[in-house]
Amino acid sequence: MSEPGHIPVLLDEAVALLNPRAGGLYLDGTFGGGGYARAILERAPCTLWAIDRDPAAISRGAALAENYPGRLHVVEGRISEILDLLGAHGVTALHGAVFDLGVSSYQLDDPSRGFSFRQDGPLDMRMGRAQKTAADLVNTVSESELADMLFQLGDEKASRRIAKAIVSRRASQTFETTSDLAGVIRSVVRPDKSGIDPATRSFQALRIAVNDELSEIEAALAQSSQLLIPGGRLVVVSFHSLEDRIVKRFFAAAAGRAPGASRHDPASLQAGAAPQFRLLTGSPAAAGAAEVKRNPRARSAKLRAMERLSRVAA
Ligand SMILES: C[S@@+](CC[C@H](N)C(=O)[O-])C[C@H]1O[C@@H](n2cnc3c(N)ncnc32)[C@H](O)[C@@H]1O
Repeated sequence: MSEPGHIPVLLDEAVALLNPRAGGLYLDGTFGGGGYARAILERAPCTLWAIDRDPAAISRGAALAENYPGRLHVVEGRISEILDLLGAHGVTALHGAVFDLGVSSYQLDDPSRGFSFRQDGPLDMRMGRAQKTAADLVNTVSESELADMLFQLGDEKASRRIAKAIVSRRASQTFETTSDLAGVIRSVVRPDKSGIDPATRSFQALRIAVNDELSEIEAALAQSSQLLIPGGRLVVVSFHSLEDRIVKRFFAAAAGRAPGASRHDPASLQAGAAPQFRLLTGSPAAAGAAEVKRNPRARSAKLRAMERLSRVAA
């Protein structure tokens, strides 16, 4: 059963690949609504450390921990600090780690968090407490930085036009709300045939920038994989191509494949460093039609998993 508020994506597949065992020590790096955490704890009498940078998720985690005395430990922090956060509690080895990236529906659907262009709210978009808000970025960065951000993190082709409109508008009045920003974007970008709101890509870019999401993922993969014992598994669910590219490259390198290596070209497989992991998912797993119908958020999800080798190949 999932908590109302966030329907976990690819839950059965992710937990099956994590394969929690009795007595094992696991990490859920993105606790969110606790859907994954609960499923892991129900699957085997194991211990789970859960991290989230969002204090609201931590409160939900504390409530869930009461149902699993001594088995669920919830820590507020970022996944780029895993070694410090877990090390502070004496956790230096894991049997598995899972990351279900991005925002939760709790965050997205709460107008006061400022993630959604569909509902009016403060232009915030912070998952945690510490960083600058989206309004801070939109009101201060230069036009060219803004354009680059929208292009690189949102794949927004009209990035220059939007950046220009934002900078021109903020000269007379700074941006404070989501609908204010969405309105300015819509005034310079027409909806295309896909029916996607013209503000979608810019809001994605801003969210990624505000939360420094791509650097977070890189650090999380490096640190969690370091903690995995032989046979330990790393499972990652990503939601857009920028995230998946990082995961794919990291996994390929860990499995000793050069970036872009193909099993059809054996020479390319030997070009990387000695493999430390074996890939459990050749191509990423995706949600089936029934899940996508039930939960449209699953549409773009990709799941990758790998397992630490018992012995490093010579
Ligand atoms: C998609 S939700 C996870 C949902 C969860 N698997 C479930 O079943 O309910 C992602 C969660 O990860 C958290 N998160 C995202 N990036 C993070 C980071 N860099 N450090 C810590 N938490 C992060 C978000 O705050 C959010 O609560």
